[in-house]
Amino acid sequence: MPADSFDRTPPHAASIVESLRAFGYDLPTALADLVDNSIAAGARQVWLRFEWAGADSVIAVIDDGHGMSAIELVEAMRFGSHSPLVPRAPSDLGRFGLGLKTASLSQCRRLTVRSRRDGAALETRCWDLDTIAATDDWRLLHSADSSAEPHLAHLATLPHGTTVLWQQLDRLTRDQQTQSDKHHQRFLGRIEGVRRHLGMVFHRLMTGHDAVRIFVNDRPLTPWDPFMESHEATHRLPTDPLRFNGVRVTVQPFVLPHFSRLTKAEHEHGAGPHGWLAHQGFYVYRRDRLLVAGDWLGFGWAKDEHLKLARIAIELPNTLDHDWQINVTKSRATPPLALRDDLKRIAERARAEAKNVYTHRGARLTPQSSTERTHLWTPMAKHDRTFYQINREHPLVRQAMESTGDRAALTALLRLLQETIPLQHITISSTEKPDCQPQPFEGADETQIMEVMLTLFRSFRASGCTAEEARTRLLTHWPFELFPALLATLDESTP
Ligand SMILES: Nc1ncnc2c1ncn2[C@@H]1O[C@H](COP(=O)(O)OP(=O)(O)OP(=O)(O)O)[C@@H](O)[C@H]1O
Ligand SMILES: [Mg+2]
Repeated sequence: MPADSFDRTPPHAASIVESLRAFGYDLPTALADLVDNSIAAGARQVWLRFEWAGADSVIAVIDDGHGMSAIELVEAMRFGSHSPLVPRAPSDLGRFGLGLKTASLSQCRRLTVRSRRDGAALETRCWDLDTIAATDDWRLLHSADSSAEPHLAHLATLPHGTTVLWQQLDRLTRDQQTQSDKHHQRFLGRIEGVRRHLGMVFHRLMTGHDAVRIFVNDRPLTPWDPFMESHEATHRLPTDPLRFNGVRVTVQPFVLPHFSRLTKAEHEHGAGPHGWLAHQGFYVYRRDRLLVAGDWLGFGWAKDEHLKLARIAIELPNTLDHDWQINVTKSRATPPLALRDDLKRIAERARAEAKNVYTHRGARLTPQSSTERTHLWTPMAKHDRTFYQINREHPLVRQAMESTGDRAALTALLRLLQETIPLQHITISSTEKPDCQPQPFEGADETQIMEVMLTLFRSFRASGCTAEEARTRLLTHWPFELFPALLATLDESTP
């Protein structure tokens, strides 16, 4: 037999297309892949529409990007439309020439795409899995099912753009009944999951000068910044840029504020879609698009309660996709061997710092060192045990002592308070639920906080301080630094 003889064995369309559904997408990662395409096509706005109709529910992603001509659309619908080996424009979020098809068909059995280039005619193509199964042929249909038309209408109002429509959502709404409240609620829950995921993945692309605006059922998404960069107590650790194959890879570790420095709303927001514990670790960005949202990247470290304030950003260009083993679903990245030692060193520092902050209730990151701060309770070590003494030099204690008519009773009360702190109870509950320890004045309204703050302010003023000096002193008296807005209202005219 000649050496160059061969059999032609193209895959069976009917079976391979079913296998291509199993790339490991879930609903949020599949939709993120479509939004990638919209952003790569220069969209300023992307609208996701979820329409509930039981088993006939549909999802559409509409963008005002540059759109596609008929030839481009046919090519876009081809599995493997681009080789992963071909270099991409720096702003291109794609790599494999697969996402539009594999992401969509992981969730639905009929994918219709309608698109138009500026001012040109609308073009439509459709992959229907039942047609492929029946014909065992890659038949890309020219027209949408008539039931698709109402969902494709929006594009007619845009000069250019693309609509991707998913019908027959067998993974999401098979056997679901339109009238069932339970089924409807579950659908709404899935939408919420998508909102949170996309707000996280595209948070950088949704802010700044060229921001893209993303809407889910007409509600704009809220970007989720994992690093709380605008919070004054977030700590940005120093770091040096790394290089790989001559390309710069920026690594920026952050230690987030201790929970006592966050308001309840900030704490809840900081938890992100998967919670504080899950979101520790590295965050890998590729052209500002988040691929990995908290992972120790195979260094063998389990997620640890004490390290959850450590979040480390890595920025990659899309030229390193192969070296970082970026996968089709854009949800995994593996650092190349040559960078592992450096990354480990950087992570170890961030982990140590994060543990420190977690353990010492944020003391290291506060404006004053803990020795300059006045606390009501003073920890005292004696014979390997820690006791907590009421600080008799605290201005409120002194004031109470000086003004009381019964010093003996007050002294006895302070002593008893000190001796009977429910330490055991506090230790157990803080070990069981470390995030659930209330902050000072949690749940109190402003007048209650003000009442205490004012007593101290007046006592400072009475000792000869100006209003400004009294405010500065209040800042050093824990926990009033937590309420800067209230503090700022105190001035010379405060009675
Ligand atoms: N919303 C869109 N607007 C304009 N062009 C699009 C849109 N979606 C897809 N395309 C075109 O279709 C092509 C194929 O998209 P697809 O998502 O399948 O692969 P990719 O983005 O090239 O790579 P990846 O598999 O990594 O996503 C894109 O490269 C782009 O040219
Ligand atoms: Mg893509």
